[in-house]
Amino acid sequence: MHPPPIPAALLPELVRAMPKAELHMHIEGSLEPELIFDLAQRNGVALSYPTVEALRRAYVFDDLQSFLDIYHEGTRVLKTEQDFYEMACAYLARARADNVLHAELFFDTQTHTVHGQSAQIVINGLHRACEEAPQRFGMTASLILCFLRNLSEEAAFECLEEVLPLRDKIVGIGLASSEVGNPPEKFAKVFARARSLGFRLVAHAGEEAPASYIWSALDALRVERIDHGVQAFQDGALMQRLARERIALTVCPLSNVKLRVFPALEQHNLGAMLDAGIVATINSDDPAYFGGYINENFTQTFAALGLHSGHAYQLARNSFEHSFLEPGVKRQYLERLDALFDEFSQRAV
Ligand code: ADE
Ligand code: ZN
Repeated sequence: MHPPPIPAALLPELVRAMPKAELHMHIEGSLEPELIFDLAQRNGVALSYPTVEALRRAYVFDDLQSFLDIYHEGTRVLKTEQDFYEMACAYLARARADNVLHAELFFDTQTHTVHGQSAQIVINGLHRACEEAPQRFGMTASLILCFLRNLSEEAAFECLEEVLPLRDKIVGIGLASSEVGNPPEKFAKVFARARSLGFRLVAHAGEEAPASYIWSALDALRVERIDHGVQAFQDGALMQRLARERIALTVCPLSNVKLRVFPALEQHNLGAMLDAGIVATINSDDPAYFGGYINENFTQTFAALGLHSGHAYQLARNSFEHSFLEPGVKRQYLERLDALFDEFSQRAV
């Protein structure tokens, strides 16, 4: 379906009301300062910031690494299966309020095993929230385990083996953390093993590091989606390949501005990418740290770049089509998307 244009005056309401999938968000990045303080108190963890406000004031970043340092500090408060469950429920409730019908949650067990928590605690807590999501929140959710790329491939292998008894609770494998200096090919063997086990594959590439990282995520890791991928714009041949092979980019506009990948939202290349035929989606990455959940990413980006209702439809459609949902569920969500555009078209006449 190619819906008729919807007037610009209705656009903010349309993008907020639109059914959508969120394909790039780190569940540990949804920990709001208030929840960090509650969990710290419950678990007897001493924080380096005296108050919620002081912690929130520290959320000013120079680059990815300066963010990751604070993000890791926040994850220290997570101790029990119940903590992981409550964190995921808080995110799912918030996402559903933004009309997210399906979310694929990144998590990284390596962060927690370093603190002494077993992968089992992490996965069981998160999975219980995903399992309850249809009844409790009227949405679906699944889990993607990210390896930390600053650690060794051997450590990623150990992580993979540790989660294998819980394999059915995880839909895919991804790659996150400090990008520059840790290229995808470092993880070629462990991704090949994950692929042979039937996991769906994604990787962060071309967030801060150059387009060559996107080529190697595709060729050495054989991923199905690229997380971020905004540096593809530097490489015409890569842009053509991404468009031709319909590889989805999970773009996170507010994250890119907070981490200074772009100086301002007005300079973001998302609109140009969509117009060049790239299959992009909009996502929140680490919403508690970057100033907004998915609808905030949509409304601010649409205003800054002057995007229109055709872009909105394409972005929402891409998010469902390139999710790891089964075809029947995808179809139902796409029908709900079309129904919303029909409703808005009627209002516009
Ligand atoms: N982990 C959490 N957020 C991330 C990001 N934006 N890039 C890489 N790793 C991350
Ligand atoms: Zn990310």
